[in-house]
Amino acid sequence: MNAGTGVVGLIGHPVGHSKSPEMMNRAFRACGLPFVYLAFDVSPSELGDAVRGMRALGFRGWNVTIPHKVAVLEHLDEVEETAREIGAVNTVVAQEGRLIGYNTDGEGYLRSLVDETGLELSEQRVLILGAGGAARAVAHALATTGVESITIANRTREKAERLAASLRKADARAVSLSELERVVGETTLLVQTTSVGMYPETEAIPIDPSFLHERMIVSDLIYRPRKTLLLREAEARGARIHGGLGMLLHQAALAFEHWMGKPAPVDVMREALEEAMK
Ligand code: ATR
Repeated sequence: MNAGTGVVGLIGHPVGHSKSPEMMNRAFRACGLPFVYLAFDVSPSELGDAVRGMRALGFRGWNVTIPHKVAVLEHLDEVEETAREIGAVNTVVAQEGRLIGYNTDGEGYLRSLVDETGLELSEQRVLILGAGGAARAVAHALATTGVESITIANRTREKAERLAASLRKADARAVSLSELERVVGETTLLVQTTSVGMYPETEAIPIDPSFLHERMIVSDLIYRPRKTLLLREAEARGARIHGGLGMLLHQAALAFEHWMGKPAPVDVMREALEEAMK
Protein backbone atom coordinates (compact mmCIF):
# COMPACT_ATOMS: atom_id res chain seq x y z
CA MET A 1 0.00 0.00 0.00
CA ASN A 2 1.13 3.53 -0.67
CA ALA A 3 -0.25 7.03 -1.19
CA GLY A 4 -1.82 5.95 -4.45
CA THR A 5 -3.79 3.02 -3.02
CA GLY A 6 -7.48 3.20 -3.87
CA VAL A 7 -10.18 2.27 -1.38
CA VAL A 8 -13.41 0.32 -1.72
CA GLY A 9 -15.35 -1.22 1.10
CA LEU A 10 -18.49 -2.44 2.74
CA ILE A 11 -20.94 -0.67 5.01
CA GLY A 12 -23.38 -2.63 7.16
CA HIS A 13 -24.34 -3.23 10.77
CA PRO A 14 -22.90 -5.67 11.73
CA VAL A 15 -20.18 -6.52 9.18
CA GLY A 16 -17.95 -8.84 11.22
CA HIS A 17 -19.23 -11.98 9.48
CA SER A 18 -18.60 -10.68 5.94
CA LYS A 19 -16.42 -12.72 3.57
CA SER A 20 -16.18 -9.86 1.07
CA PRO A 21 -12.82 -8.48 2.33
CA GLU A 22 -11.18 -11.87 1.72
CA MET A 23 -12.72 -12.23 -1.75
CA MET A 24 -12.06 -8.68 -2.92
CA ASN A 25 -8.55 -8.23 -1.55
CA ARG A 26 -7.52 -11.58 -3.09
CA ALA A 27 -9.03 -10.44 -6.39
CA PHE A 28 -7.14 -7.11 -6.31
CA ARG A 29 -3.86 -8.89 -5.59
CA ALA A 30 -4.44 -11.46 -8.35
CA CYS A 31 -5.10 -8.68 -10.87
CA GLY A 32 -2.27 -6.43 -9.62
CA LEU A 33 -4.77 -3.65 -8.85
CA PRO A 34 -3.65 -1.04 -6.27
CA PHE A 35 -6.83 -1.22 -4.17
CA VAL A 36 -7.81 -2.26 -0.69
CA TYR A 37 -11.25 -3.40 0.52
CA LEU A 38 -12.29 -2.65 4.10
CA ALA A 39 -15.43 -3.39 6.14
CA PHE A 40 -17.06 -0.58 8.13
CA ASP A 41 -19.69 -1.06 10.83
CA VAL A 42 -22.02 1.92 10.38
CA SER A 43 -25.06 2.40 12.59
CA PRO A 44 -28.28 3.53 10.83
CA SER A 45 -28.12 6.99 12.42
CA GLU A 46 -24.66 7.54 10.89
CA LEU A 47 -25.40 6.35 7.37
CA GLY A 48 -25.54 9.85 5.86
CA ASP A 49 -22.27 10.90 7.49
CA ALA A 50 -20.60 7.69 6.36
CA VAL A 51 -21.67 8.22 2.73
CA ARG A 52 -20.54 11.85 2.77
CA GLY A 53 -17.24 10.73 4.29
CA MET A 54 -16.62 8.06 1.67
CA ARG A 55 -17.50 10.51 -1.08
CA ALA A 56 -15.13 13.12 0.36
CA LEU A 57 -12.31 10.59 0.78
CA GLY A 58 -12.56 9.53 -2.85
CA PHE A 59 -13.61 5.89 -2.40
CA ARG A 60 -13.99 4.15 -5.77
CA GLY A 61 -17.18 2.59 -4.45
CA TRP A 62 -18.57 0.30 -1.78
CA ASN A 63 -20.91 -2.56 -1.03
CA VAL A 64 -23.97 -2.05 1.10
CA THR A 65 -25.46 -4.70 3.34
CA ILE A 66 -28.14 -5.03 6.00
CA PRO A 67 -29.62 -2.73 7.30
CA HIS A 68 -28.64 0.00 4.79
CA LYS A 69 -29.65 -1.49 1.41
CA VAL A 70 -32.86 0.53 1.18
CA ALA A 71 -31.94 3.60 3.24
CA VAL A 72 -28.80 4.29 1.18
CA LEU A 73 -30.87 5.15 -1.92
CA GLU A 74 -31.70 8.64 -0.71
CA HIS A 75 -27.99 9.46 -0.36
CA LEU A 76 -27.11 8.60 -3.97
CA ASP A 77 -27.12 10.75 -7.11
CA GLU A 78 -28.45 8.05 -9.40
CA VAL A 79 -29.92 4.57 -9.04
CA GLU A 80 -29.72 2.13 -11.92
CA GLU A 81 -32.99 0.63 -13.16
CA THR A 82 -32.67 -2.88 -11.68
CA ALA A 83 -31.81 -1.51 -8.25
CA ARG A 84 -34.72 0.90 -8.51
CA GLU A 85 -37.09 -1.94 -9.34
CA ILE A 86 -35.82 -4.02 -6.46
CA GLY A 87 -35.85 -0.96 -4.21
CA ALA A 88 -32.45 -1.82 -2.76
CA VAL A 89 -28.79 -1.14 -3.53
CA ASN A 90 -25.88 -3.46 -2.70
CA THR A 91 -23.16 -1.75 -4.74
CA VAL A 92 -22.28 1.94 -5.08
CA VAL A 93 -19.90 3.26 -7.72
CA ALA A 94 -18.37 6.75 -7.46
CA GLN A 95 -18.03 8.00 -11.00
CA GLU A 96 -16.67 11.48 -11.61
CA GLY A 97 -18.00 12.61 -8.27
CA ARG A 98 -21.45 11.07 -8.76
CA LEU A 99 -22.64 8.18 -6.61
CA ILE A 100 -24.49 5.53 -8.64
CA GLY A 101 -26.36 2.65 -6.98
CA TYR A 102 -26.61 -0.86 -8.42
CA ASN A 103 -27.97 -4.16 -7.22
CA THR A 104 -25.92 -7.22 -8.23
CA ASP A 105 -27.78 -9.76 -6.06
CA GLY A 106 -30.28 -10.91 -8.68
CA GLU A 107 -27.78 -11.09 -11.54
CA GLY A 108 -25.32 -12.82 -9.17
CA TYR A 109 -27.99 -15.38 -8.37
CA LEU A 110 -28.68 -16.07 -12.04
CA ARG A 111 -24.99 -16.46 -12.87
CA SER A 112 -24.56 -18.91 -10.03
CA LEU A 113 -27.68 -20.89 -10.91
CA VAL A 114 -26.87 -21.25 -14.60
CA ASP A 115 -23.17 -21.87 -13.91
CA GLU A 116 -23.74 -24.61 -11.38
CA THR A 117 -26.83 -26.34 -12.77
CA GLY A 118 -26.69 -25.58 -16.50
CA LEU A 119 -30.47 -25.38 -16.53
CA GLU A 120 -32.46 -23.85 -19.37
CA LEU A 121 -34.20 -20.87 -17.78
CA SER A 122 -36.88 -20.53 -20.43
CA GLU A 123 -38.32 -23.91 -19.46
CA GLN A 124 -38.70 -23.20 -15.76
CA ARG A 125 -41.88 -22.95 -13.75
CA VAL A 126 -40.54 -21.14 -10.71
CA LEU A 127 -41.83 -21.15 -7.15
CA ILE A 128 -40.21 -18.59 -4.84
CA LEU A 129 -40.57 -19.03 -1.09
CA GLY A 130 -40.43 -15.66 0.67
CA ALA A 131 -41.07 -12.07 -0.40
CA GLY A 132 -38.37 -10.07 1.43
CA GLY A 133 -35.35 -8.25 0.04
CA ALA A 134 -33.58 -11.36 -1.26
CA ALA A 135 -36.77 -12.61 -2.93
CA ARG A 136 -37.26 -9.26 -4.65
CA ALA A 137 -33.76 -9.37 -6.16
CA VAL A 138 -34.13 -12.96 -7.35
CA ALA A 139 -37.70 -12.54 -8.64
CA HIS A 140 -36.85 -9.42 -10.67
CA ALA A 141 -33.81 -11.14 -12.18
CA LEU A 142 -35.75 -14.29 -13.06
CA ALA A 143 -38.57 -12.21 -14.55
CA THR A 144 -36.16 -10.84 -17.18
CA THR A 145 -35.07 -14.29 -18.37
CA GLY A 146 -38.23 -15.59 -20.02
CA VAL A 147 -38.95 -18.31 -17.45
CA GLU A 148 -42.32 -19.94 -18.10
CA SER A 149 -44.00 -18.79 -14.88
CA ILE A 150 -43.25 -17.30 -11.47
CA THR A 151 -45.27 -18.05 -8.34
CA ILE A 152 -44.44 -16.40 -5.02
CA ALA A 153 -45.46 -17.90 -1.69
CA ASN A 154 -44.98 -16.04 1.54
CA ARG A 155 -46.09 -16.29 5.15
CA THR A 156 -47.48 -12.75 4.81
CA ARG A 157 -49.48 -13.13 1.62
CA GLU A 158 -49.86 -9.41 0.86
CA LYS A 159 -46.08 -9.09 0.48
CA ALA A 160 -46.10 -11.90 -2.08
CA GLU A 161 -48.92 -10.17 -3.92
CA ARG A 162 -47.08 -6.88 -3.98
CA LEU A 163 -43.93 -8.53 -5.29
CA ALA A 164 -45.81 -10.49 -7.99
CA ALA A 165 -47.56 -7.30 -9.13
CA SER A 166 -44.27 -5.40 -9.34
CA LEU A 167 -42.65 -7.89 -11.72
CA ARG A 168 -42.55 -7.18 -15.42
CA LYS A 169 -43.90 -10.65 -16.04
CA ALA A 170 -47.62 -10.53 -16.68
CA ASP A 171 -48.37 -14.02 -15.38
CA ALA A 172 -46.52 -13.79 -12.04
CA ARG A 173 -48.85 -14.74 -9.20
CA ALA A 174 -48.91 -15.04 -5.43
CA VAL A 175 -50.16 -17.88 -3.23
CA SER A 176 -50.35 -18.46 0.52
CA LEU A 177 -48.23 -21.11 2.19
CA SER A 178 -51.42 -23.15 2.67
CA GLU A 179 -51.90 -23.29 -1.11
CA LEU A 180 -48.44 -24.68 -1.85
CA GLU A 181 -49.61 -28.25 -2.34
CA ARG A 182 -51.53 -27.15 -5.44
CA VAL A 183 -48.46 -25.54 -7.01
CA VAL A 184 -45.53 -27.83 -6.22
CA GLY A 185 -46.45 -30.61 -8.65
CA GLU A 186 -45.77 -28.36 -11.65
CA THR A 187 -42.75 -26.57 -10.12
CA THR A 188 -39.41 -27.18 -11.84
CA LEU A 189 -37.36 -24.61 -9.88
CA LEU A 190 -38.01 -23.96 -6.20
CA VAL A 191 -36.11 -20.96 -4.81
CA GLN A 192 -35.93 -20.66 -1.02
CA THR A 193 -35.27 -17.05 0.04
CA THR A 194 -36.53 -16.95 3.64
CA SER A 195 -34.27 -17.07 6.67
CA VAL A 196 -35.74 -20.42 7.74
CA GLY A 197 -32.96 -22.99 8.07
CA MET A 198 -30.19 -20.42 8.45
CA TYR A 199 -27.52 -21.04 11.09
CA PRO A 200 -28.11 -21.47 14.03
CA GLU A 201 -31.69 -22.53 13.21
CA THR A 202 -30.43 -25.48 11.16
CA GLU A 203 -33.22 -27.96 11.80
CA ALA A 204 -35.98 -25.73 10.41
CA ILE A 205 -37.51 -26.19 6.96
CA PRO A 206 -39.93 -23.75 5.30
CA ILE A 207 -41.95 -26.30 3.26
CA ASP A 208 -43.48 -29.74 3.82
CA PRO A 209 -40.68 -32.07 2.62
CA SER A 210 -43.24 -34.35 0.95
CA PHE A 211 -43.81 -31.54 -1.60
CA LEU A 212 -40.26 -31.96 -2.94
CA HIS A 213 -39.80 -34.21 -5.96
CA GLU A 214 -37.26 -35.39 -8.50
CA ARG A 215 -38.54 -33.21 -11.35
CA MET A 216 -37.46 -30.03 -9.57
CA ILE A 217 -34.23 -28.19 -8.83
CA VAL A 218 -34.24 -26.92 -5.27
CA SER A 219 -32.23 -23.75 -4.77
CA ASP A 220 -31.61 -22.32 -1.30
CA LEU A 221 -30.11 -18.83 -0.90
CA ILE A 222 -28.80 -19.74 2.54
CA TYR A 223 -25.06 -20.51 2.54
CA ARG A 224 -24.58 -21.25 6.23
CA PRO A 225 -25.02 -24.17 6.55
CA ARG A 226 -23.76 -25.00 3.06
CA LYS A 227 -26.37 -27.76 2.78
CA THR A 228 -29.56 -26.79 4.60
CA LEU A 229 -32.12 -29.26 5.86
CA LEU A 230 -34.26 -28.30 2.85
CA LEU A 231 -31.44 -29.24 0.46
CA ARG A 232 -30.81 -32.51 2.28
CA GLU A 233 -34.50 -33.41 2.11
CA ALA A 234 -34.61 -32.43 -1.56
CA GLU A 235 -31.58 -34.55 -2.36
CA ALA A 236 -33.10 -37.52 -0.53
CA ARG A 237 -36.15 -37.23 -2.83
CA GLY A 238 -34.06 -37.18 -5.99
CA ALA A 239 -34.19 -33.43 -6.66
CA ARG A 240 -31.13 -31.56 -7.90
CA ILE A 241 -29.88 -28.98 -5.44
CA HIS A 242 -28.21 -25.57 -5.59
CA GLY A 243 -26.81 -23.81 -2.49
CA GLY A 244 -26.41 -20.11 -1.72
CA LEU A 245 -22.62 -19.69 -1.74
CA GLY A 246 -22.43 -19.13 -5.50
CA MET A 247 -24.76 -16.13 -5.27
CA LEU A 248 -22.47 -14.58 -2.65
CA LEU A 249 -19.51 -15.13 -4.97
CA HIS A 250 -21.11 -13.80 -8.13
CA GLN A 251 -22.73 -10.72 -6.59
CA ALA A 252 -19.22 -9.80 -5.39
CA ALA A 253 -17.69 -10.54 -8.80
CA LEU A 254 -20.26 -8.24 -10.43
CA ALA A 255 -19.50 -5.48 -7.90
CA PHE A 256 -15.78 -5.86 -8.74
CA GLU A 257 -16.64 -5.46 -12.42
CA HIS A 258 -18.62 -2.26 -11.75
CA TRP A 259 -15.70 -0.71 -9.87
CA MET A 260 -12.79 -1.94 -11.95
CA GLY A 261 -14.37 -2.06 -15.42
CA LYS A 262 -12.89 -5.49 -16.14
CA PRO A 263 -13.89 -9.13 -15.60
CA ALA A 264 -13.43 -10.39 -12.05
CA PRO A 265 -11.05 -13.28 -11.34
CA VAL A 266 -13.94 -15.51 -10.26
CA ASP A 267 -11.86 -18.63 -9.56
CA VAL A 268 -9.51 -16.73 -7.27
CA MET A 269 -12.48 -15.20 -5.46
CA ARG A 270 -14.16 -18.60 -5.11
CA GLU A 271 -10.99 -20.01 -3.55
CA ALA A 272 -10.80 -17.11 -1.08
CA LEU A 273 -14.47 -17.55 -0.20
CA GLU A 274 -14.10 -21.30 0.32
CA GLU A 275 -11.14 -20.69 2.65
CA ALA A 276 -12.99 -17.98 4.57
CA MET A 277 -15.96 -20.33 5.07
CA LYS A 278 -13.85 -22.93 6.90
P1 ATR B 1 -34.07 -10.83 3.32
O1 ATR B 1 -33.53 -9.48 2.97
O2 ATR B 1 -33.02 -11.82 3.75
O3 ATR B 1 -34.97 -11.39 2.27
P2 ATR B 1 -36.36 -9.99 4.86
O4 ATR B 1 -36.60 -8.90 3.89
O5 ATR B 1 -36.48 -9.71 6.32
O6 ATR B 1 -34.93 -10.63 4.67
O7 ATR B 1 -37.36 -11.21 4.48
C1 ATR B 1 -37.43 -12.38 5.22
C2 ATR B 1 -38.37 -13.37 4.51
O8 ATR B 1 -38.37 -14.59 5.25
C3 ATR B 1 -39.81 -12.91 4.44
O9 ATR B 1 -40.41 -13.44 3.27
C4 ATR B 1 -40.40 -13.56 5.69
O10 ATR B 1 -41.81 -13.76 5.67
P3 ATR B 1 -42.81 -12.56 6.11
O11 ATR B 1 -42.84 -11.61 4.97
O12 ATR B 1 -44.09 -13.24 6.34
O13 ATR B 1 -42.22 -11.97 7.37
C5 ATR B 1 -39.70 -14.89 5.66
N1 ATR B 1 -39.66 -15.55 6.98
C6 ATR B 1 -38.87 -15.23 8.03
N2 ATR B 1 -39.10 -16.07 9.06
C7 ATR B 1 -40.05 -16.97 8.63
C8 ATR B 1 -40.69 -18.09 9.21
N3 ATR B 1 -40.42 -18.49 10.46
N4 ATR B 1 -41.59 -18.77 8.47
C9 ATR B 1 -41.90 -18.39 7.20
N5 ATR B 1 -41.31 -17.32 6.59
C10 ATR B 1 -40.40 -16.62 7.29
